[in-house]
Amino acid sequence: SVSQLSGAGEDDSNEIIFGGHMCRCPRRTSCPHIVRAPTVIAMVGLPARGKTYISKKLTRYLNWIGITTRAFNVGEYRRAATNSYKNHNFFRSDNKEAQEIRTKCAVMAINDACKFLDRGGEVAVIDATNTTKERRRMLVHHCTEQHQFKLFFVESVCDDPNIIEANILEVKVCSPDYTGQDKNEAVKDFLQRIEHYRHTYETMDDATERDLSYIQIFNQGERFIVNKLAGHLQSRVVYYLMNIHVLPRTIYLTRHGESAMNLLGKIGGDSDLSERGWAYAEALGRFVEEENIPQLKVWTSELKRTIQTSRYVNAPKEHWKALNEIDAGVCEGMTYEEIQQKYPEEFALRDQDKFHYRYPSGESYQDLVARLEPVILELERQENVMVICHQAVCRCLLAYFQDKSAEDLPYLKVPLHTVVKLTPVAYGCRVEFLALDIPAVNTHREKPKNTDVTRGSSDALFTVPNHE
Ligand code: ATP
Ligand code: F6P
Repeated sequence: SVSQLSGAGEDDSNEIIFGGHMCRCPRRTSCPHIVRAPTVIAMVGLPARGKTYISKKLTRYLNWIGITTRAFNVGEYRRAATNSYKNHNFFRSDNKEAQEIRTKCAVMAINDACKFLDRGGEVAVIDATNTTKERRRMLVHHCTEQHQFKLFFVESVCDDPNIIEANILEVKVCSPDYTGQDKNEAVKDFLQRIEHYRHTYETMDDATERDLSYIQIFNQGERFIVNKLAGHLQSRVVYYLMNIHVLPRTIYLTRHGESAMNLLGKIGGDSDLSERGWAYAEALGRFVEEENIPQLKVWTSELKRTIQTSRYVNAPKEHWKALNEIDAGVCEGMTYEEIQQKYPEEFALRDQDKFHYRYPSGESYQDLVARLEPVILELERQENVMVICHQAVCRCLLAYFQDKSAEDLPYLKVPLHTVVKLTPVAYGCRVEFLALDIPAVNTHREKPKNTDVTRGSSDALFTVPNHE
C-alpha cells in the first residue's frame, strides 16, 4: 500500500514510500526503506572487466539492505541457447548468425528483467557487455519507453593488461565455456574474444549519451565519472561502488567471549566475561599472533564484553556503538523463558517473523541491518579487520557476506568462542568457522516448528545454557 509521497527526491515524482505491508501486527517493523520506481542497472564493458563481479556484489548488497534485486547474466542465456562454445569466432562482429543469437539472448534477458520488475522486483541488473550505443539505446527503449523504469548504466573501463590477465586466470579459464580445455589455450582464446568486442566497442560518451544516467569506473576504482544521477537509489549505488575494492584481504568475525549473562541464559545487558570468556580472550590473542595478519585493525562494540575480548589482541582498536548487540527493549536482562512467561504474545510474535519483529522499546533485526550499513561500507573500504561483536550483530554481518535471506538471517549459527574467517574468492568469499577449543554455553535458540500467536504461545524449544 502506498502511504505517502517521498520528500527524498523532489525531482522524482515517481519515488514513493511504501508503507508497512507487514503491518498486520503491531510489533513488526514496517518496511521503512524508500521504494523507488523500479530500476534497471545495465553493466557496460569489454569482457573480463569485472561486470559479473560488480553485478553479483551489488545485488547482494541491495538485497541485504532490503531492496529486492536480481541479476540477469546474458552469458548464461547464450550458453543455454547454443550447444557448446567452440571458440572466439563466435564473437566476431562479422559473424551474422552468432550476432543474431546474441541479440536474441540480450532481448530475452531484458524481457525477463522487466517481468521481474513488473512482478514486484525493485532492481534488475543486466549483466552483459552492452558495448555499443545501439545496444544501449535498445535498453533505453525497452526499459524507459516501453516500461517506465529508471535506467542506470555502470561501465567498467580497464586498460591495464596485468589486471585483465589476472581476471582471466581467476575466473574465465574456469568458466563453462572452457571446461576441460588447456589453461593457456583458454587464455589465448579469451584474449581474442576481447579483441572482437574491441572492434565495435563504444565507451559511454558524454557528447551523445549525456541524457543517460551512468557511472564509469576506471581501472578498478582509480577514477570515476558520474553523469546525471537520478534519485536516491542511484546515489546509494554510486556511493557503494566508490567504496569497494578488490585488494586481497581477510575479515575475521567473532562474538565476545562467554559473558556472565550468557551463563545465566539472560539476553542483552553489559556484563563482564566469565572465566571461560577470559580464556577465549587469551586464545584469540594467540590466534591473531599465529595468523600473522599485516596491518590488522580490531573493531569492537562499546560493550564491556567485546572490549574485554579484544584485550590480548595486539592491534589498534576502535569501539563502534553501531556494533552493540540488538536492543531487546523491555526484555533486556531476561531469559527466553522469563520473556515467554511475562510477554507470551510478544514471544510468539517474534517466532512468527523474527527478522521484522521489534522488541517493545527495542530493535528488530531489520533495524539492526540499517544500523550496520555504515559498518559494512567501512569494512568494504578497509583491508584486514577483526570485528568482535555479538550474536545478532554477527548474524547480520555474516548474512551480508554469505548472501542470506531475511528469513534465514536471524537463525544463522554463530557459536561463541569461534572465529569466522572470510576470504574473498572469485565472485564471493570463502567462509571458515574456526572453533578455538574453549568450552562455552550455547546461546542459539532454534526456530520453533509451530507458532500460535492467538494462543499467545510458541513451541518452547529453549536452549537452556549447556556446554557445547
Ligand atoms: P564477461 O564479459 O566475460 O562476463 P566480466 O566483465 O563480467 O566478463 P568478471 O567475470 O566479473 O568480468 O571478472 C571478474 C574479475 O574482475 C575478478 O577477478 C575481479 O577481481 C575483477 N574486477 C572486479 N572489479 C573490477 C573492475 N572494476 N575492473 C576490472 N576488474 C575488476
Ligand atoms: O544471548 C546472547 C545474545 O547476544 C543476546 O544479548 C541477544 O538478545 C541475543 O543473543 C540475540 O539472539 P536472538 O535474536 O536469537 O534472540
